[in-house]
Amino acid sequence: MRIPIIAGNWKMNKTIEEAIQLVKEIKSNLKDGVETVVCVPFTALSEVKKEISGTKLKLGAQNMHWEESGAFTGEISPLMLKEIGVDFCIIGHSERRQYFGETDEMVNRKIKSALKHGISPIVCVGETLEQREANIEKKVVETQILKAFDGIVAEEVEKIVIAYEPIWAIGTGKTATKEEANEIIAFIRKIIMNKYQQEISDKVRIQYGGSVKPDNITDIMNQSDIDGALVGGASLKPEEFIKLVSF
Ligand code: PGA
Repeated sequence: MRIPIIAGNWKMNKTIEEAIQLVKEIKSNLKDGVETVVCVPFTALSEVKKEISGTKLKLGAQNMHWEESGAFTGEISPLMLKEIGVDFCIIGHSERRQYFGETDEMVNRKIKSALKHGISPIVCVGETLEQREANIEKKVVETQILKAFDGIVAEEVEKIVIAYEPIWAIGTGKTATKEEANEIIAFIRKIIMNKYQQEISDKVRIQYGGSVKPDNITDIMNQSDIDGALVGGASLKPEEFIKLVSF
């Protein structure tokens, strides 16, 4: 049984004060049986951690470097995240790939480092509009998955959450149809099955992301292979995020 997981990706939004306000509302509206995560900006991690202590709300970061320390100006290491008590870290979000030059190789290093430090990666994959129009979305996603999981041993796989986020659906209001999303997510599960074995692929949780809103969450969550959602815009408004968690 895969436990559903709904994660809010706040991106570059919310000051510390605003972050506290938002988690205060979320933490008192959690739902049993749904793992709920807030991936907040680095600056708010510590304060949010204090605010959610004693609740089931989990804390995530949005990025990390793979090294523990060193001359990497502006970067944050897994040790620093671990010290705060971060449970999850988004890795390879399309905005990081697109605007900050993250490659599949960097994503792979970050995943390995996160696992080594007891942080569960939420690994993002997904195709651009041009790639979908050229009918190569499966090829693109397969390459991203295989490179991301290169050298990851079977025992580690179930600690990883995969988020399928077609880039054309992120922040655009255009969501993939539930069938389109489920098809690619089932395909990702098959890639994991072929690389490892069915017992492992049955356990790995795969989210859909891209314009998830209260009015489409139920359809999305009712799909056979979709185990959750990675939510940007709608995770910034407490009333919307609370509705998503109670899909
Ligand atoms: P969105 O973002 O929900 O605003 O489309 C999703 C994401 O980028 O994770």
